[in-house]
Amino acid sequence: MKTNFLIILLVLFLNQMYGQHNIIPTPVSYTTTETSFTFQNELYLNSKIKDSEATAYFNLLREFLSAKGIKLIEKKSKKNCIKISLNKKADAQLRDEGYTLEVTKDNIILSANKASGIFNGIQTLKQLFSLDKKEISGCKITDYPRFKWRGLMLDVSRHFFTVDEVKTYIDKMSEYKFNVLHWHLTDDNGWRIEIKSLPKLTEVGAWRVKRIGWNGKAPQPNEKATDGGFYTHEQIKDIVKYAQDRNITIVPEIDVPGHSLAALAAYPELSVKKEPKYVSPGNRFSEWYGDGTFKMLIENTLNPTDEKVYDFIDKVFTEVAQLFPGKYIHMGGDEAYHGYWEENTAIQKFMKKHKIKDTHELQSYFVQRVEKIIASKGKKTIGWDEILEGGLAKGAAVMSWRGMKGGIEAAKLKHEVVMSPTTFAYFDYMQGDETVENKIYAKLNLEKTYTFEPVPDGIDSKYILGGQANLWTEHIATMPFAFYMTYPRAFAISEAVWSPKANKNWDDFIKRTQTHFNWFDANNTNISKAVLDPIVHVYKENNKLMCELKNSIPNATIQYSIDNTYPVQFGTKYTEAFEIPEGNFKLRTQTFENGKSIGRLLIIDRTVLEKRVGEKPFSF
Ligand code: ACM
Repeated sequence: MKTNFLIILLVLFLNQMYGQHNIIPTPVSYTTTETSFTFQNELYLNSKIKDSEATAYFNLLREFLSAKGIKLIEKKSKKNCIKISLNKKADAQLRDEGYTLEVTKDNIILSANKASGIFNGIQTLKQLFSLDKKEISGCKITDYPRFKWRGLMLDVSRHFFTVDEVKTYIDKMSEYKFNVLHWHLTDDNGWRIEIKSLPKLTEVGAWRVKRIGWNGKAPQPNEKATDGGFYTHEQIKDIVKYAQDRNITIVPEIDVPGHSLAALAAYPELSVKKEPKYVSPGNRFSEWYGDGTFKMLIENTLNPTDEKVYDFIDKVFTEVAQLFPGKYIHMGGDEAYHGYWEENTAIQKFMKKHKIKDTHELQSYFVQRVEKIIASKGKKTIGWDEILEGGLAKGAAVMSWRGMKGGIEAAKLKHEVVMSPTTFAYFDYMQGDETVENKIYAKLNLEKTYTFEPVPDGIDSKYILGGQANLWTEHIATMPFAFYMTYPRAFAISEAVWSPKANKNWDDFIKRTQTHFNWFDANNTNISKAVLDPIVHVYKENNKLMCELKNSIPNATIQYSIDNTYPVQFGTKYTEAFEIPEGNFKLRTQTFENGKSIGRLLIIDRTVLEKRVGEKPFSF
């Protein structure tokens, strides 16, 4: 009797401490209360906040509730209200973007220091709903972000996405409390932003010949460049405002001096050799040597010694700075090929005259000039970690992508850093077994993404602005597929950049993620469920081909067969590594939960497994 009582007390206590919720990113603190709020057909909005940002946020709440059959009406009342207020005296721990949210039997009470906190609180409130009920559990939430910069990058050069498509991307990321959209607007495959003073950038640079897929043929003689698009100033202003209304700042990227083929197709005189060029339709024009070195077979780099290049950059950033109200402008800086600089005598002469030792220093000279131009427009420069090479420009922030080391170096130099390493945050990489994914050269699954920690050991966290994941779109031609590649890995990044490190818990995260799968399904929005598939790892032992399987779902089991029987659910439950017998066999494997298959059925030929020996598994 006494034990039962103690157990009940313990359950109540744990429930208070860690009540189950489905919020992503998980809040700083959540406690359930023994009550619930039931929505009527009308909900009264009680708020004195009049600023335009908050009004935009209320309108979004109104739309959300309306889709659930609940009308939001501005009215004072003691009950059936959502009371939204700004703190008269700022609550220090909430800073700019935090909020407190309380759901009682009678009312919902949301408060914050700033409108952006109100926005984030509204996103949490939306996630308290289930798909089918107009009732939410009583709770008290205190929540605020761990980092200021919580970003996703969208590459619109490799594939162009329309204004409406970009807006859907913004919609979804705002629900997960991302606050930066890094917009990769220019690259070798298309220049996407209208620059009125340089009209050829979009007349020529925004268009390429049409190819299905990537790595196809170069443009053929007389082939018309009809594929592409760009955003006009009006469209950009519209998107910037749309993002602002969702607490998102857009950081535009103009990638220079490398990745500039589209610009050079428009203005070839800005290159070293000044040869005519075309916008690349994705044909290969580079060679990569596996150790980070490469060669560009076509010149795609601006000439850093030509004053006309700086006039060009000044014109571009003048308009970019006018269009984007945020503090940062991204100048790219990555993967600039120096070969054409090295072999040009005029450039060598320039370097001698200016006492520039090598082409790294020449790139640094370029970065410093560009940084000054950006600063002259009242903005701060951020660039990929190559901008460290040859000396980092004063005041520039660094986006660390080649692992964390660039970020560590920049933080040690007391520069601001955004961590965005390939190892945890590249969303173009495959997220499941390559037999069922669009095959590209690298893998990153949800579990690995979830281990992303933006602050390396020994680094002062005050220099780490935050973290970001990048969606490069060479192999992503449509927005539905962009969603598939972004989610759910963006959930993991959102927790890395919003939630306290101490709140990390894979089992809890994956449970909440599965609920969000249902929400995406109900919303007809793609999301990858690759995390539900088994992870396959093969190795050799005593000359035998051995196979290990792992599932990432706490209560799931894995079934498999190696004798070509089918279907797999009547096969064998995985318990330990097993041998794949010699002969014409296939591994068939699938995960199950509560007697139902949950992941995809993987069917992998022995010959394919044999080739994988020595490869690292996703994570074990
Ligand atoms: C990059 O992935 N080249 C920044």
